[in-house]
Amino acid sequence: MNNREQWGSRLGFILAASGSAVGLGNIWKYPHMAGQNGGAAFTVVYLICILIVGLPILLGELAIGRNTQLSPVGAFNKLSGLSKWKWVGFLGVASAFVILSFYGVVGGWTLKYTILALSGGFDALSGQPDISGKVFSDFIGSSFQPVIWQLIFMSFCIGIIIKGVKSGIESGAKIMMPLILVILGLLVFKGLSLEGGKKGLEFLFKPKFSDLNPSSIVMALGHAFFTLSLGMGTMITYGSYLDKKQNLFSSAIWVILLDTFIAMLAGTAIFTIVFAMGADPSAGAGLIFVVLPTIFPQIGGGVIWGALFFFILFMAALTSAISILEVITAYFVDEKGWSRNKATLLFGGVISLVGVFCSLSLGDFNITNFMQVSFFDFLDELSSKYMLPIGGALTALFILKKWSIPVFLDELLIGVKERKYEKSFYQNVLKICLIISSLIVGLIIINEVFDLLFDQSLQKMAGF
Ligand code: TRP
Repeated sequence: MNNREQWGSRLGFILAASGSAVGLGNIWKYPHMAGQNGGAAFTVVYLICILIVGLPILLGELAIGRNTQLSPVGAFNKLSGLSKWKWVGFLGVASAFVILSFYGVVGGWTLKYTILALSGGFDALSGQPDISGKVFSDFIGSSFQPVIWQLIFMSFCIGIIIKGVKSGIESGAKIMMPLILVILGLLVFKGLSLEGGKKGLEFLFKPKFSDLNPSSIVMALGHAFFTLSLGMGTMITYGSYLDKKQNLFSSAIWVILLDTFIAMLAGTAIFTIVFAMGADPSAGAGLIFVVLPTIFPQIGGGVIWGALFFFILFMAALTSAISILEVITAYFVDEKGWSRNKATLLFGGVISLVGVFCSLSLGDFNITNFMQVSFFDFLDELSSKYMLPIGGALTALFILKKWSIPVFLDELLIGVKERKYEKSFYQNVLKICLIISSLIVGLIIINEVFDLLFDQSLQKMAGF
């Protein structure tokens, strides 16, 4: 009876799930956050957060998906006996709409910069961050160009999702993920071979515990969540295409290892090149689109290296974007009985249209002007500060209160050949981790709400 599509292989699933996890967060966000918040000291905190907060929720989402063989709304509905918990699923679908609207805009930028690099367009920016900054802000603020690139990016995304789980998502990940790894490896090699490049390693990896403050810890926590694509049912959806043979625990560990490894490779590539060329490593969010274009022309073969760098950024964004669209498509296929084509085309189209407003909001046309923020920033903050953490905390609570730890553990133990300890030991570990992660995530949300309402976050009140 079960004609639900399934992943073709374990490797395919691991690549698809890590494709969702590896995105702009790894290549753009992690390097500058680590660089500015204590280097290896930040990385250690981030790894602890990944293991305590990220891993249990990742396991939880995968287990919910595989157990029910349904996407989030149906999954919560089935496990909770048609109760209010299904709203956690709806929250996930809503987050997917919000995130993809602006993620698609940035996806378009990565394409534009790949082509700009390839056509030698970085030459005119060489060594001139001011000019590069102006070129970038003029580009993203213009009406026509970024919208075209965004629509091209969204067409790739829609094209892959229409082809389905195995020949779309899985095949795409099997091509793009190895390419990302290989090209990043080459870039690391190049960076390390440049004179002075090794100083970048020190910047990224030498522990500077004095640079670590409470706000960097909150940042590491939030990022652990974001980078694993948790809190909106992506991993529930991907888990729902798994069969009952796989060991979820080892798959989850693989996803985490790949995600972390790629973030560190990206950081190494970026900072070795930045230091070798004497550029400003603390440029923060502008590092990628503003600083890097000014230094690629100065290294041998810079046209190719620059184009390759933005091409990996494009692929990383695309493998994440498809996992967001799949959450929406899967909802309409599972719950409304729509065809994959109809759901993907219609909602891919709607999201592209909302994305156009996001892009225009960085120029003259901003529909959230009355709130003093651009529509782009509004959607970004709404999702990453509120919707995703709330979704994640509710998922943890759902497992603790409704689904129950023993049932969760039984799902996890399917496919596990031997186990070392008594079941009760694992149950306690899972319980403690889930309680800690819901508390921590709850704290982050409260912190944000305070900050928003009173311009007073908890760390500011504590005097930092
Ligand atoms: N993990 C992605 C990154 O590192 C971003 C992301 C957050 C995401 N939540 C998601 C991607 C949900 C897909 C689905 O960039």
